[in-house]
Order: sequence, then structure tokens, then C-alpha cells
Amino acid sequence: MSKPTLTTESGAPIADNQNSSSAGIGGPLLLQDQHLLEKLARFNRERIPERVVHARGSGAYGYFEVTDDVSAYTHAHFLGEVGRRTETFIRFSTVADNLGGPDAARDPRGFALKFYTEEGNYDLVGNNTPVFFIKDPLKFPDFIHSQKRDPFTGKQEPDNVWDFWAHSPEATHQVTWLMGDRGIPASYRHMNGYGSHTYQWTNADGEVFFVKYHFKTNQGIRCLSSEQGAELAGKDPNSHQTDLLQSIERGARPSWTLHVQVMPAADAADYRFNPFDLTKVWPHKDYPLQRVGRLVLDRNPDNVFAEVEQAAFSPNNFVPGIGPSPDKMLQGRLFAYADAHRYRLGVNHTQLAVNAPKAAKAANYGRDGLMASNAYDRHAKNYEPNSYDGPAETGAALSAPRPVTGHTGTHEAPAHSKDDDFFQAGELYRLMSEEEKGRLVANIAGGLSQVSHEAVVEKNIAHFSAADTEYGQRVEDAVRALQEG
Ligand code: HEM
Repeated sequence: MSKPTLTTESGAPIADNQNSSSAGIGGPLLLQDQHLLEKLARFNRERIPERVVHARGSGAYGYFEVTDDVSAYTHAHFLGEVGRRTETFIRFSTVADNLGGPDAARDPRGFALKFYTEEGNYDLVGNNTPVFFIKDPLKFPDFIHSQKRDPFTGKQEPDNVWDFWAHSPEATHQVTWLMGDRGIPASYRHMNGYGSHTYQWTNADGEVFFVKYHFKTNQGIRCLSSEQGAELAGKDPNSHQTDLLQSIERGARPSWTLHVQVMPAADAADYRFNPFDLTKVWPHKDYPLQRVGRLVLDRNPDNVFAEVEQAAFSPNNFVPGIGPSPDKMLQGRLFAYADAHRYRLGVNHTQLAVNAPKAAKAANYGRDGLMASNAYDRHAKNYEPNSYDGPAETGAALSAPRPVTGHTGTHEAPAHSKDDDFFQAGELYRLMSEEEKGRLVANIAGGLSQVSHEAVVEKNIAHFSAADTEYGQRVEDAVRALQEG
């Protein structure tokens, strides 16, 4: 078999890839050895900043196919016709640990999906949980600091984790979810995905709907107990990656069915709790699930660094007919991601194959910057408006306008009749079987009993009691038993 010639980065042939050039036999090495210098220097630059959250992840390509007509709710082209297929790329992830952390950790999982639509890329950057720990983006950096490694001890600290939650009663619902059975999915294939936020859809007549996305796994939900998770994390820290890679390689085509809950815009103001509060779910009896289509994964990336590590998902990548709701967390995220990408990958990250539009073409007057590789026609203008035939605006609104009132300022969310932070955590607890409740309480107590400040322990117990008196009492009994034991 004839092999291609090994070359330098500039394409010059390399004579010897086993021995560096030296001054005589056994002498020191030569500065003129371009191949050695280039190879060592390039190696030093192989790593880029890891994602500040969701650092550890796995990706796959696939497609989304519309199975049900939702044109009454949105004029998004990719959802516009039953049978329409759109290419997708998904990245699953854990949240709190750094790159190299174990996949089988008790942690939410990221579910970030890119639809390469004919109207540009649409990114739905969700999790495997329908709710979140906080409801104002101002708290996000503090929240993440408390969950990631402590700057002094260099490891995750129950003191910090539970201290933040003691001061964030709104986290009680998500903490109940995370400490329960679904807190450690058996694999990425065996969990649901949620948009979590409320999004705004607009139909062709300009009517507005608020929407929540639910991707239900067709593999069935499978979870690990804390003990199983700890064992697997030790045996195969890459267990989710192994499972996803191997299942797609053997042609298993993992899939999810997308459903949406649809709230007519007029319902929002008087709904019994704030429908834009990310710590709450909408009961299905109020807004039933409506099927939209299915997501199928059928191809592994060829190169993990190029396609998964450099993938960039941003909640502000919308397409006409889909837009943001006033959910404060979502509003904060509209800034955070593209900013992270400019830092982590550079201003031209949208030119990388995994991030560039595939079914549409980017055409604008953004130019230059580090690593610009887009070539433009030699006569293309780099300013707008112009007298030539460069790209021009459409004049059509992407999403329906929303009315606003009041004064600027740091306001709490508008009050609704049933806004408290605890009732949905209580409902979730009461839905559980006796065995599930037992495991939930044991998981919470396992963490809380390691906390050194009694006030932090008490505040957390008070939150569980506010959700359900029995829940709080059982957590208290289990914590005290562990502390005494
Ligand atoms: C990743 C910020 C809340 C899901 C990230 C990244 C940042 C970030 C900076 C790294 C992006 C990158 O380097 O590519 C924030 C902020 C939040 C927030 C400021 C709250 C205000 C959420 C919520 C969800 C979520 C509520 C889910 C519903 C994800 C996912 C990723 C991610 C899935 C990984 C994306 C990927 O695979 O590349 N977040 N986040 N985040 N976030 Fe958030």
C-alpha cells in the first residue's frame, strides 16, 4: 500500500519522524529542526478553554422529522409540513464537573440540539430536567461557583452546594428532582430532553403562543442508583460516551418523540403561577402534550474535538416563528452563550463546519477577525446599505412583538395567585412510590449530613418541610441518624 508523504504544516516533506536533528551523534539538538519545533509547539496548543459548565459531553448527528401538523401555532419552516426532515446535531453533557469528570454522576444532563434549517440554524439548548435551580440569571455565576470545585480545596464541597440551596428556596423543586431516581440517567439514550424554558411561537396570522418542549426518549427511561452510579463512574468514567458511540455504530438509531405544551398568549397574565418561571412545570392537565415529530440519531462525529468540543449552541439562534419569552433566565442566556463562544472558540466559530448553516447560507457584512476563512467575491461590499447587490434585510418581524409596561428597575417577577417556591416540589414528592421516597431522602441526607453549618442544614430541611411536612421530617430524621452514627 503506498502511503501519502508525511509533511510539515506547510506541506514540505519530512525525512525522519523518529529522530530529532542533533549536532553530531549524541550532541545537543538544533534550532533549525523545523519539524521538531513545529510538532512540540503545536502540541502545546491542542487544548482550548473548556466550557465553564457542561464541559464533559458527547455528540451525534441525526435528523428531525415532523409527524404532526403544528402550523396553527408556528410558521417556522422546518416544522411546516408533515414528513419534512431537518438535519440535526446534538450534544449531551453533564454540568458541574470539569472535562474528564465521570459520566455517571448525579447531575443534570445537557440536551443541546442544533437544527440546520432552511431559515438558518435553530438551537434548542435544554436539559434532561423540565425545571432549573434558579429563576434570575444574576444568580447563575454564584450558583455554579457553589456546585463546582472549591477554590481552596479543589473539589466539590457539600458545604458550598447546600449553602447556596439554603439561600435559594426556589431550588427546592429541582433539588427534589435531582436527588430522586432520575438524578443519574443510565445513559444519554435513556433520558428525556426538555427545552425547560417557555418559548414564544408565532403563526402565519401573527397569533402568539407560549410553548414548552418535551423530547420523550423512545428507549425508555433508565436510571442508576447512587451505588450503581458510583461503581460505573469508577469502572468506566466515559460510560455515556461508550453507550452513545457504540449504539450508533451498531445502527441502533436512538430516537426521541417531541411533544409541546401550548399556551395561548392570552392565558399567561392570569395563569395561577408565572408561566415564565423556570422553576415550575405546567401541569399536563392544563396544557396537554401535543406530538410534533421525532428526533433520530444516526451518525457519530468523525472527530470529537472538531465537531463536539468546538460545537457552539446558543439559545439566541432562533428562526422566524420561534422566539424568546420574557423568562428572565432565558433572557440572560441569550447573551451568555455567544459571548462564551467568542471567548472559547473565537469570533469566527460560526464558520466551523459543525456550527455553520447547512441548509441556509450566512450572508452579512461581518468580516475579518482571528481565523477568518470565509472567502468573499472580490467585488462584495463590506458595508450596508449599499448601491450594489449585497444581502438586504427582509423587513419581516422574526417573532411577534410583546407589549411592555412600567418602569425600568430591579423588579421581582409579576405576582400570580400561586407563586410559592415549594408546592411543585411537594407535588413531585407525593407522586413518588414509597421506595422512591426512601431513595430520595437517603440521597439528600447523604449530602446534607456532610454539611458543617447547622444553620445550613436547618434551612434546607425547612425547604423540604415547606414542600411537604412528611418529606421534611423524613429528611431531618435521616440526616440526624447519619450525623449521630
Ligand atoms: C452551557 C451559561 C442556564 C443548558 C453553558 C455555557 C454557558 C452557560 C456560558 C457554556 C457555553 C459554551 O462554552 O459553549 C448559562 C447561564 C444560564 C444557564 C448564564 C442561566 C442564566 C442553563 C439552563 C439550561 C442550560 C436553564 C437548560 C435548560 C446548557 C447546556 C449547555 C450549557 C445544555 C451545553 C451546551 C453544549 O453542549 O455545548 N451555559 N446557562 N443552561 N448550558 Fe447553560
